Amino acid sequence: MTKDLLTISDFTKDEILQLFKKAAELKGMTRSGVIHEPLRGKSLAMIFEKSSTRTRVSFEVGMTQLGGHALFLDAGKTQIGRGEPIMDTARVLSRYVDCIMIRTYKQSDVAEFAKYARVPVINGLTDMYHPCQVLCDIFTVSEKRDNYLDLNYAFIGDGNNMANSWIKAALVLGLKLTVAAPKGYEPHADLLEEVRAHGGGNITITTDPMEAAKGADVINTDVWVSMGQEDGAKEKLAAFGGYQINDDLIKHAAPDMLLLHCLPVHRGEEVTNEAIEGEHSVVFDQAENRLHIQKSIILHLMDNIAAQRA
Ligand code: CP
Ligand code: NVA
Repeated sequence: MTKDLLTISDFTKDEILQLFKKAAELKGMTRSGVIHEPLRGKSLAMIFEKSSTRTRVSFEVGMTQLGGHALFLDAGKTQIGRGEPIMDTARVLSRYVDCIMIRTYKQSDVAEFAKYARVPVINGLTDMYHPCQVLCDIFTVSEKRDNYLDLNYAFIGDGNNMANSWIKAALVLGLKLTVAAPKGYEPHADLLEEVRAHGGGNITITTDPMEAAKGADVINTDVWVSMGQEDGAKEKLAAFGGYQINDDLIKHAAPDMLLLHCLPVHRGEEVTNEAIEGEHSVVFDQAENRLHIQKSIILHLMDNIAAQRA
């Protein structure tokens, strides 16, 4: 029973299926105006070292809807920005709040936070992983396709935090996933090693975007230049010719393919405007679902810690 969500494999397959069930219930309640406030008097600290729209707003609104409160902490305006050690900040915040969400650069910083915090810590994105987003993405597919665990998934683009998290999800859930990234921009070596150790099987890593798109039921993409990688962006973009999600690529996918993008999108780079606005795109349903899955994740981790303390 995990205290924290640092990466998707902190959850078992059963826990993820439970999260989806709960997210669907919470969504139903929100949509029908039912007040459900199990977190009255509880607080979530949200520490941001990088920009955010969806993550910040969905966590904050989610806490409000659950009857609790969220505090936005711009890391640079806290003592973290002046060098207060993570091990001290984590212990201090644990004396005030019931849960902590962090968006930062290094995965090891989130892990250190979790080590010293007595309350659940949620990874709101690092250079390595974006677990809340990929859980949201699969939940979104689950709403639209009953056979979502048996579909052909493709991730086409940069081997970044999203690609890494998709691989983690495919390992835990047994999804059929093909990741296509240019040479030099593959997913993190640790994930490639995990896939090798797993024996490949349901997960394929390729440099050929067409191989990933062919017959895909779900195609994901993400920006080619992630936050914090702006230096050297020009050279990087040059490596991504052929990886754009456009009509030519889409016609190789299943006719009812779903197009996912975590947003924000760079129209004309990783995806065309026509594709993102087109019939396959479910990006705004995905964005909405950040709210519902976030609430489900918080409740699940709060239940876990209550059980651990009992
Ligand atoms: N997709 C996502 O995490 O969006 P934000 O950067 O706006 O939080
Ligand atoms: N890969 C992107 C995701 C943004 C939500 C980034 O890290 O900037």
